[in-house]
Amino acid sequence: MKATPYIWFRGELVDWSSATVHVMSHAIHYGSSIFEGIRAYDTPRGPAIFRLTDHLRRLFDSAKIYRIPMPYTLEQLTSATKQVVQVNKLRSAYIRPVAFYGYGTLGIDPSACPTEVAIGAFEMGSYLGPESLEQGVDVGVSSWQRFAPNTLPALAKAGGNYLSSQLMNIESRRHGYAEAIALDTNGLVSEGGGENLFLVREGTVITPPLTAAILGGITRDSVVKLLAEQGIAVKEQPVPRELLYIADEVFFTGTAAEIVPIRSIDGITIGNGRCGPLTAQVQHAFFGTVQGEREDTYGWLEYVES
Ligand SMILES: Cc1ncc(COP(=O)(O)O)c(C=O)c1O
Repeated sequence: MKATPYIWFRGELVDWSSATVHVMSHAIHYGSSIFEGIRAYDTPRGPAIFRLTDHLRRLFDSAKIYRIPMPYTLEQLTSATKQVVQVNKLRSAYIRPVAFYGYGTLGIDPSACPTEVAIGAFEMGSYLGPESLEQGVDVGVSSWQRFAPNTLPALAKAGGNYLSSQLMNIESRRHGYAEAIALDTNGLVSEGGGENLFLVREGTVITPPLTAAILGGITRDSVVKLLAEQGIAVKEQPVPRELLYIADEVFFTGTAAEIVPIRSIDGITIGNGRCGPLTAQVQHAFFGTVQGEREDTYGWLEYVES
């Protein structure tokens, strides 16, 4: 991570190195944080934050699910996020807002701990490696399943939930893969460690439904809408593991990873092992939109300088 001069913390801009917390903070012990991953892109009209409002809405949804009181409004966090990109003079950025239970008591009950909120931003390339967007990645199905319904809420983007992704990620790297795909507790395909998943088979585009223990990805939603504009409907339906192997194309979607072709799963080549035509079409529409080169039909680009 490349440090930037400022982080927004406790309602004001502070030096990157001063944005620290006490080791006895609740979140450190119990994973009681919620967060977002957002990207700002360099566009001809200056830096634009992609679907900022939707990301911050999901942050508030995560807070609601975990009953974390939020000390700021969506409007305050919107302007704070833009401010962080602006003061750090970033043209493009990965932005990380986080809210967590801070220092108070150390019992599991967090009610006496304050909610702390911070927003950091820094330059970040492709999450799955510089070649991943063109060349694709090799991935494996994890031996770790996603959490069962009514255990950890998959729709919340919460720190503790990511212990599952960490186990998947550590295992996949040990096997030489760039990322893991998890199955849900019914044995059906869920998602990647930090990405949603789509597959194409005989011209039909399929993605697992929200009930498959996935995070409701904003990139996933963007892809569904961009394909709809081109007359291609995406079917949300349960995906058996072996459908992945016989798919013509499989790709990941996520803010950090962006749109990444998957060239092999468990050592089985997907399609011809290259970025397939539909994946390339989605990449073209997505990058054209986020970089302000294509019409922003949905008002997804939220400009930092008004
Ligand atoms: C577990 C998980 N699934 C899916 C996604 C993709 O979501 P989005 O497209 O909103 O970044 C992410 C990334 O935030 C994630 O962490």
